Amino acid sequence: MFNNIDINKMNRLMEENKDAKQIISRLLENHHTTVSMIAHEIRNPLTLVSSSLQIMEAQHPEVKEFYNWKQMMEDVQFMCNLLNELSSFNKSTILHHSVFSIERLLRNVAVSFAISLDAAGSDIEFTSHIESGIGDFTGDKVKLEEMLLNLLKNAKDAVEADGKISLTAKKEEDTIIIQCTDNGYGIPEDQMSSIFEPFVTYKENGTGLGLSLAKQIVEAHGGKICAESTPGINTTFTVTLPV
Ligand SMILES: Nc1ncnc2c1ncn2[C@@H]1O[C@H](COP(=O)(O)OP(=O)(O)OP(=O)(O)O)[C@@H](O)[C@H]1O
Ligand SMILES: [Mg+2]
Repeated sequence: MFNNIDINKMNRLMEENKDAKQIISRLLENHHTTVSMIAHEIRNPLTLVSSSLQIMEAQHPEVKEFYNWKQMMEDVQFMCNLLNELSSFNKSTILHHSVFSIERLLRNVAVSFAISLDAAGSDIEFTSHIESGIGDFTGDKVKLEEMLLNLLKNAKDAVEADGKISLTAKKEEDTIIIQCTDNGYGIPEDQMSSIFEPFVTYKENGTGLGLSLAKQIVEAHGGKICAESTPGINTTFTVTLPV
């Protein structure tokens, strides 16, 4: 894995030398494609294994009593999620632009999230305040939705059973400011600098790709993402997107 010093050196090399820039860009592209292909190839048979296990469980419910069955199902699901995230992680800088109402997108995401909480019988209090008149936005709708869902999922993971989560959005001059706040366990100061790095997770079953994916998506749109947290009180992720 590259660290910040390596990345700075690479950027300097690319600035100083056009040939190096071309070769490093091609190497990076090649690396991304290889990782995506491997993730994709492993995901296909794994999805078959996962479906077979689910059918087996439906036809023979007694298997649920097997020692470690539940754990195994969770592990298989985790591997499927990891491979999904890995392949989208590598595609997160390639945007498919369209012009759309970001206000509608935010409202849809809020409604889907509220429905998912309801469906799970959750007591989490979710509120959203999306300013009207935010207007149209040019960007990748699917990726922005993925980014927002990652922030909301993290908030949900962080709060207590009766915790609070809010999603707000407003326009300020030429930027759209989206904030996701929760009153969960928060992020200790010593973890703050690493949470956006790929594969950094402090959760038992986390992949550590959610926030790095979110950051790549926001930055590919020319925006910024940052986090502020007072552990035990509240945590806010702020996404600023230029219009
Ligand atoms: N709202 C939040 N409150 C507290 N901690 C958070 C919050 N959002 C992120 N974090 C911290 O940042 C870490 C990295 O988050 P990220 O989304 O990248 O990975 P993850 O959530 O651990 O795994 P995955 O996204 O695959 O479920 C988390 O493990 C968690 O410690
Ligand atoms: Mg996450």
